Amino acid sequence: MRDDSSPDQSGPRINTSVHHSARVWNYLLGGKDNYEVDRVAGDRLAAAFPGMVALTRNSRAFIGRVVRHLTEEEGIRQFLDIGTGLPTVDNTHEVAQGIAPESRVVYVDNDPLVLVHATALLTSTPQGACDYVHADARDPERILQEAARTLDFSRPVGLMLMGILGLVEDDDEARSIVARLTDALAPGSFLGLNDGTTTDPAYVSALSTYNKRPGAIPYTPRDPEQIARYFDGLDLLEPGVVTVSQWRLGALPFGLPDEVACYGGLARKTG
Ligand SMILES: C[S@@+](CC[C@H](N)C(=O)[O-])C[C@H]1O[C@@H](n2cnc3c(N)ncnc32)[C@H](O)[C@@H]1O
Repeated sequence: MRDDSSPDQSGPRINTSVHHSARVWNYLLGGKDNYEVDRVAGDRLAAAFPGMVALTRNSRAFIGRVVRHLTEEEGIRQFLDIGTGLPTVDNTHEVAQGIAPESRVVYVDNDPLVLVHATALLTSTPQGACDYVHADARDPERILQEAARTLDFSRPVGLMLMGILGLVEDDDEARSIVARLTDALAPGSFLGLNDGTTTDPAYVSALSTYNKRPGAIPYTPRDPEQIARYFDGLDLLEPGVVTVSQWRLGALPFGLPDEVACYGGLARKTG
């Protein structure tokens, strides 16, 4: 592993001259695993769209609720978390193994810095297991093959695609990724997914500026209907595909929190 200043030509390269989504996301979540270029991009995004920090944090909280629901209520003990991001609060294995220590989790990302920090994602309980696969989501077959070292695909798996399909510009390709992954899952498996949406014009406009920065991998927000279509063929749990800030919060004394421009849901594969 090397950064731009390293003479070593081996291993994935950490490019500190352009921002990376994993590092900008980490910065917006309040993390420290980012570079100046990421902080500048994150600050510009948040200045253009002040709801950005709330969006990232509500999205992260949604992931925790999904994993908790799957572990506590659905008996899921295996997770495949693709587009994991840098280690942060409530990583999937921490939530799952906190409830069921025997849970097995495979993380997948294609960012070199996530690979560097992957050891923080591999702090499994002795009863369970964690693995990290450095791979591109556009290659589901390779991901499934490598994840099979740790997960038993003849049994249910909780597949997590959180904030990653927006980084696949072409919606047909994004849908194909979801279909190829869910096809490989056993009945009783689940898909948990969220992504940024076009529901707030200020967010769409801020992203369009962000996407024009040199080297940016564009993030494409989608309509809630497009997000819902990723779940085609699966049985969506209540309340369906909604803003992540309002998904399954339980009883609230003061009503639902504000909507954020990120929608998500959780669905069961039955057949
Ligand atoms: C917006 S972050 C979301 C992180 C985490 N899932 C969360 O919601 O907190 C998107 C993550 O997807 C990863 N990613 C982007 N494109 C990818 C690809 N083609 N294959 C694998 N990972 C990818 C990025 O490196 C980054 O860590």
